[in-house]
Amino acid sequence: MMRTGTGNAMYAAMIAAGFFAVAQADGTLPTGLIGRGEQVYQKDCAACHGDLGNGAGPAARFLSPKPRNFSTGMYKFRSTPSGELPTDADLLRVLESGVPGTQMPPWKGILTLQERMDVIAYIKTFSSDFLEAPAAPIAIPEPPPSTPASVTEGKMVYMLMECWSCHGGKGKGNGKSGQTLKDDWGQKILSWNLTRSSYKGGNDPAALYRTFTTGLNGTPMPAYALDGFLISGDAAVDPAKYSEAYPAAEIDQLKDWLRTQPPEASLQKMSAEQRSALGERRKWALVHYIRSLIVNRNYFVRMFTEDTEITR
Ligand code: HEC
Ligand code: HEC
Repeated sequence: MMRTGTGNAMYAAMIAAGFFAVAQADGTLPTGLIGRGEQVYQKDCAACHGDLGNGAGPAARFLSPKPRNFSTGMYKFRSTPSGELPTDADLLRVLESGVPGTQMPPWKGILTLQERMDVIAYIKTFSSDFLEAPAAPIAIPEPPPSTPASVTEGKMVYMLMECWSCHGGKGKGNGKSGQTLKDDWGQKILSWNLTRSSYKGGNDPAALYRTFTTGLNGTPMPAYALDGFLISGDAAVDPAKYSEAYPAAEIDQLKDWLRTQPPEASLQKMSAEQRSALGERRKWALVHYIRSLIVNRNYFVRMFTEDTEITR
């Protein structure tokens, strides 16, 4: 379901009157208390995210990307399917690590776990979408090891799925379609430079798997269903299209690889398990390829090249 954004006056009044405890924490996390969360919020969050949670705090106009508008119920970083709300554990993860490459700071060590849960309970009151039970997180299988063959396969998948149209042929965030994108909040947004050493949503294998599967709500970064990975070996490769991002030799490499893959007729004959195994294998290959793009620059180089906003 797509979240469209609400936050009605009646709902706000009910919260002010302490009508219900929205704070239903996942599993073992302590339950957050809205009243205490409001105090944390006013002290540590409102300058950016705004008194009313609408992302328009006094500091917001100097920031890019803009602080999240919590009243729309649209969240980028989730373990839940595309269009769904984040779980408390998702919100906690973002709060603890911050959002690298943006001004959203990490709060671990600054706020106690209880304070983090309190402020999470409070920011959820900005959108009445949170009155519904949250969707279940996606299952993330155990990552297979990265091998040179899986990295190569991942590159082929990256080419076939046209990630380069936004992220560029070498993942530097300079794809042609990536230059004119806007997010759902109306701000210009750049496709992430995948060679940077830290990612907004994390870049351990499971985190990347999660980002591909759930997408980043409110941004042009799509959610990729497993079926999307089942491209057949007889799929046509139009060199004119790929030449935007790749030299002829790499396009030939893709054609050669495709010839080793099951053609449409074989895909049709596969059982559901076989199809899903093929999709999963390619998805993990893509994860390993993306990780292979990361350049581990030393600390000082990073300070000058990476510690800036990515969207202007
Ligand atoms: C200095 C400004 C600043 C402060 C202070 C700040 N934030 Fe943020 N926050 C941001 C920005 C900017 C983003 C957007 C990052 C993006 O879109 O990539 C963000 C994103 C977030 C997100 C991610 C939402 C999503 O889409 O998944 C959460 C949750 C969040 N902030 C909560 C908080 C809380 C809670 C506090 C206070 C404890 C806080 N922030 C304080 C700037 C700030
Ligand atoms: C239509 C353009 C578009 C396409 C196609 C696209 N992306 Fe993205 N992607 C984006 C944008 C924009 C962002 C940045 C979101 C942000 O900064 O909040 C992004 C973010 C990401 C991130 C998250 C980086 C982080 O900081 O956590 C990863 C990983 C990623 N893309 C990989 C891929 C892969 C792999 C494909 C192909 C299967 C792909 N993208 C296709 C536009 C695109």
